[in-house]
Amino acid sequence: VRRHSSTKVYGPLADEDRIFTNLYGRHEWRLKGAMARGDWYKTKEILNKGVDWILGEIKTSGLRGRGGAGFPTGMKWGFMNKPSDGRPKYLVVNADEGEPGTCKDREIMRHDPHKLVEGCLVAGKAMGARAAYIYIRGEFYNEASNMQVAINEAYKAGFLGKNACGSGYDFDVFMHRGAGAYICGEETALIESLEGKQGKPRLKPPFPADVGVFGCPTTVANVETVAVAPTICRRGGSWFVGMGRTRNSGTKLFNISGHVNNPCTVEEEIVCEEAIMDFDGLVACQTSLGTAAVIVMNKQTDIVKAIARLIEFYKHESCGQCTPCREGVSWMFKIMTRFVKGDAQPEEIDALWEVSKQIEGHTICALGDGAAWPVQGLIRHFRPVLEERMASHAAAKAVAN
Ligand code: NAI
Ligand code: SF4
Repeated sequence: VRRHSSTKVYGPLADEDRIFTNLYGRHEWRLKGAMARGDWYKTKEILNKGVDWILGEIKTSGLRGRGGAGFPTGMKWGFMNKPSDGRPKYLVVNADEGEPGTCKDREIMRHDPHKLVEGCLVAGKAMGARAAYIYIRGEFYNEASNMQVAINEAYKAGFLGKNACGSGYDFDVFMHRGAGAYICGEETALIESLEGKQGKPRLKPPFPADVGVFGCPTTVANVETVAVAPTICRRGGSWFVGMGRTRNSGTKLFNISGHVNNPCTVEEEIVCEEAIMDFDGLVACQTSLGTAAVIVMNKQTDIVKAIARLIEFYKHESCGQCTPCREGVSWMFKIMTRFVKGDAQPEEIDALWEVSKQIEGHTICALGDGAAWPVQGLIRHFRPVLEERMASHAAAKAVAN
């Protein structure tokens, strides 16, 4: 199916433009298979072209962070390119994937781990990093195991460690397993956790590029962002920028789940039927692309119950250090629980809206916003459903009395 934006016709991605060639695990994921699919090809040449060249290609590609925020990658990696007073620099890969409906990084680590290992080396070089830490979600046991096998293979082949790939650059990669807290996917909570402390977000600034892990300049980058870097360098930033739309270039992994025949992870240009699905196109719908997780719900779905469940998730995962999030999300959940039954007064809809507004933008990290937005979306788009449910609950109560 082809879709049109204002200037360009989009269609299914051509096979030769796919970066992730083993998403479904049909091929060998270990070093031999990865090399046969093009990984680790001319990596030494890429490294030897130097920091400015790698950063230049990433900037030309227009790549934006694939963890949800969509921050320009070349700019972010470039923040590391300043004096560090002798402190070592680090790349931290955020593999603590936990966003509802999101499981794209899992597929990379499970079936294409060498893409990430090579990506660490290339991204690390661009930042002048001494080492990379891959912070992987605790539940991803098999993925952590495959990643470790791939790292070991890369060391054995001379691709990592001293004089990585024979380039004269020393670079190590370490795995670190999390313990199952969603908030540790927030970059500063992740850093705290990596340092052995409770995973509680820090106030920014300072950004990790100034004060990150162990007090050193650090870039925290998503798995997918890092994993695409070697292919961009091999094929050129201009190849990547030729796909997608202006400011939203390249391909992207989408997760499609819910009421569909084939829940799946797909790599496509960023587009769909009703709205342009990219970092900017969805702003018109008062939402954002985030991690590109599409959860399809059919018309029989109880949307009030579905949103209440989502809020319960955020309530459970709040780290509790700021009041609007700790108290407000709990409060929203209590109101939503009554809304599910219809056991509430119509004016409470506005009260719920007000609570969500008191949370939004008033917390240390984005978890508070993440909880407020679905509630606002529910009220904005499904207010009549809420009112109807309250009216029929009140009518049933009146008959019973
Ligand atoms: P953010 O917009 O605050 O930051 C994005 C990145 O740019 C960060 O790495 C930050 O350090 C860097 N940055 C921004 N301004 C900077 C500056 N002036 N100087 C230096 N660095 C700067 O977004 P945040 O909080 O990192 O991420 C929020 C997103 O994370 C949400 O969109 C959400 O969808 C997503 N998310 C993804 C999850 C997953 O499982 N992949 C889980 C939870 C949330
Ligand atoms: Fe913790 Fe919530 Fe505040 Fe984030 S917004 S720091 S999760 S209390």
